[in-house]
Amino acid sequence: MGKEPLLMLSHINKTYMLGELPFQVLHDVSFSVEEGEFVSILGPSGSGKSTLMNIIGCLDTANSGVYRLRDKEVSDISESQLAQIRNREIGFVFQNFQLLTKISAVENVMLPLVYARCPRKERYERAMSMLAKVGLENKAQNTPLQLSGGQMQRVAIARALVTQPAILLADEPTGALDQKTGEQIMELFSSLHDEGKTIVMITHSHKISSYAKRVVHIVDGHLYSEEEYKAMLQE
Ligand SMILES: Nc1ncnc2c1ncn2[C@@H]1O[C@H](COP(=O)(O)OP(=O)(O)OP(=O)(O)O)[C@@H](O)[C@H]1O
Ligand SMILES: [Mg+2]
Repeated sequence: MGKEPLLMLSHINKTYMLGELPFQVLHDVSFSVEEGEFVSILGPSGSGKSTLMNIIGCLDTANSGVYRLRDKEVSDISESQLAQIRNREIGFVFQNFQLLTKISAVENVMLPLVYARCPRKERYERAMSMLAKVGLENKAQNTPLQLSGGQMQRVAIARALVTQPAILLADEPTGALDQKTGEQIMELFSSLHDEGKTIVMITHSHKISSYAKRVVHIVDGHLYSEEEYKAMLQE
C-alpha cells in the first residue's frame, strides 16, 4: 500500500460573492503533495493562486470539496480548530515578508513559539539556531528596517520554520526582491528541500517555479499537471 499524501485536495470549488453575483475562482481543483516534495503552483495574475494558498494554509475554506491535511479533514471544522492546525502545521512566507518592524529579527522568529507556549530560554535558542540556518545569526539584534530585502525574507523563512511545521507555504516569496537576491532565496528553498522539508510555493514566474521539483499550472482557477498543460498548449 502506498503512503498517504501529506495534503490532499479533492474537487475543491471556491466562489466569492460580489454583491449578489457569484464569482467562481477555483473550479474542481484536485491536488496532492507527498511528504518531502517541493512543488510550485505556477499561474498568471488573477488565476486563483492566493485563493488556493489560503485554502491550503487553512486561512480560508472551500465552498465544496474535501481537504485533508495529514490525518485531519480540514473541510468542515470550526474556525478555532482551523487556527490550531494552521499554527501547528503551516509555516507561511509572503511576498512582503510581514515582519513586525519594531522588534528585532530574533524576536520576530521567536513569536510563533510564544503562541506555541514554548519556554522563553528555549524560544531564544531555537530562534537563534533557525537564524543561523538561514545565515543571519550576526543580524539577530537588527530590526527589519536595518536589514536588506533578502535578509528580511530570510528572517521570515526562519520564523516560518521555527515551529517545525509540516509544510512551508510560500506565496511569491521572491516577488519583492531583485533577481539575484531572489535566486539566493530559491537556493535556500532548495537546500531546505534537500533536508526533507515539504514546500509548496506559489508564483507567476516560470524561472522561479523551475527551482521546484514538480510544477502544476493554474489557469482561470483550473489546475493542470505539467503533462496536461503541455498537451493543452498543443491543441
Ligand atoms: N474576496 C474576494 N472577493 C471577490 N473576488 C475575489 C476575492 N479575492 C479574490 N477575488 C478574485 O479571484 C480571482 C483570483 O484572485 P487571487 O488573488 O487568488 O489571484 P492570484 O492568482 O493570487 O493573483 P496575483 O498573481 O495577482 O496575486 C481574481 O479574479 C480576484 O479578483
Ligand atoms: Mg496572489
